[in-house]
Amino acid sequence: MYKILLVDDNSSIQKTYQSLLEAHGFMVAIASSPQEGLLFLKEEQDPMVIITDIKFPSGIDGFEFIRQVKNMYPNHEVVVISGYATMDLAIEAIRLDASDFIPKPCEINLLLVAIKRASKKIEMRQTIKEYTDSLEYIIQKRTDEIKRMEGQLVQAAKLSAMGELAASVCHELRQPLCGIMGFSYLAERELDEDSPARPYLRMLDEQCERMKQIIENLRAFSRQSDTTMELININDALEGAISLFRHQLRNRGIELEVDLSADLPLVLGNKTKLQQVFVNLISNARDALDARNGHKQKKISIRCEADEENKNVQVWVMDNGIGIDESIQPRIFDSFFTTKSVEQGTGLGLSIARTIVSDHNGEINFSSRPGEGTSFVVKVPAHRG
Ligand SMILES: Nc1ncnc2c1ncn2[C@@H]1O[C@H](COP(=O)(O)OP(=O)(O)OP(=O)(O)O)[C@@H](O)[C@H]1O
Ligand SMILES: [Mg+2]
Repeated sequence: MYKILLVDDNSSIQKTYQSLLEAHGFMVAIASSPQEGLLFLKEEQDPMVIITDIKFPSGIDGFEFIRQVKNMYPNHEVVVISGYATMDLAIEAIRLDASDFIPKPCEINLLLVAIKRASKKIEMRQTIKEYTDSLEYIIQKRTDEIKRMEGQLVQAAKLSAMGELAASVCHELRQPLCGIMGFSYLAERELDEDSPARPYLRMLDEQCERMKQIIENLRAFSRQSDTTMELININDALEGAISLFRHQLRNRGIELEVDLSADLPLVLGNKTKLQQVFVNLISNARDALDARNGHKQKKISIRCEADEENKNVQVWVMDNGIGIDESIQPRIFDSFFTTKSVEQGTGLGLSIARTIVSDHNGEINFSSRPGEGTSFVVKVPAHRG
């Protein structure tokens, strides 16, 4: 129910209308002059119906009052009651945006209809404001979204240009790298068992493996690598990845526990690509362990098994390394996000792993406790039929 402000200098009119309107459930405030009315409105924020006379013995008249009210409080509605009900006054009142003009003394029913009409206008104005606000909110949200997507498009264009360049550089690098690895193997064979040069050659090998991994990652990132899918046993991809690390992990004092289920359902996949996923996960686990201090045995556990209904094959790669700080957990799958030095990481491993796994209709998830370790799980659907 609206509060009503009655502005009239006649005390008997004040009393009569106040009691009649209160009997109809309105809250009525009284002002004896437009000035008093303006003072009252200063304190009232909610839109209300104002009933005002036109002629006052001193100060501003009712028209000036309406002008000031409409100027300062456009959400209020004004109903004019006047003992001098001429056509000119009525036209002037409506021109100033009063919602009604009623001759005085007026019947209460007539006044009630005018109040109802004024209240309706206030309500409609409020509804329109609510719609406009929510429309503005929706437009703002959409605009932000479009801006974000524009940014992503620019980023994607840059990445794709970079991807093409990376692919051609990788292509050029692969051959000399294979040469270095081959000659290093031949050189190692020529050495005595206890030759002091052996550890150097082993380090050379590790660094070459790292370069190979970077090249494979960049090729996968630029989507230039082989994408053929066939029925495979995930264990094969996993064993291929593990064999690359056995030697290296032993040298670093990292225990490797492998538990592969013997009868896995086959999956439709690309063995080289899945192997790349596991290489990335194991090398991350290794780096997390290298970064850890303390006496606790460093350990990587790898497990592979089908889920209960043989619907998916799941591979866990777990470590008790430094873990992943909660603040960066949402970003670890982003391309080029890395906490490692330039020589150690490009920040592509997990983003590529996720792309590969989703190309297999699978998912990759992780859980991590900073200071305690991390566990990644790759889930790929088993082939049906
Ligand atoms: N097992 C893990 N333990 C702790 N941190 C991890 C682990 N795996 C990933 N991270 C964090 O996620 C980041 C991103 O990993 P990602 O494999 O994508 O890139 P990277 O290892 O830094 O570089 P790249 O794999 O390209 O050589 C890492 O820099 C590291 O901070
Ligand atoms: Mg990595």
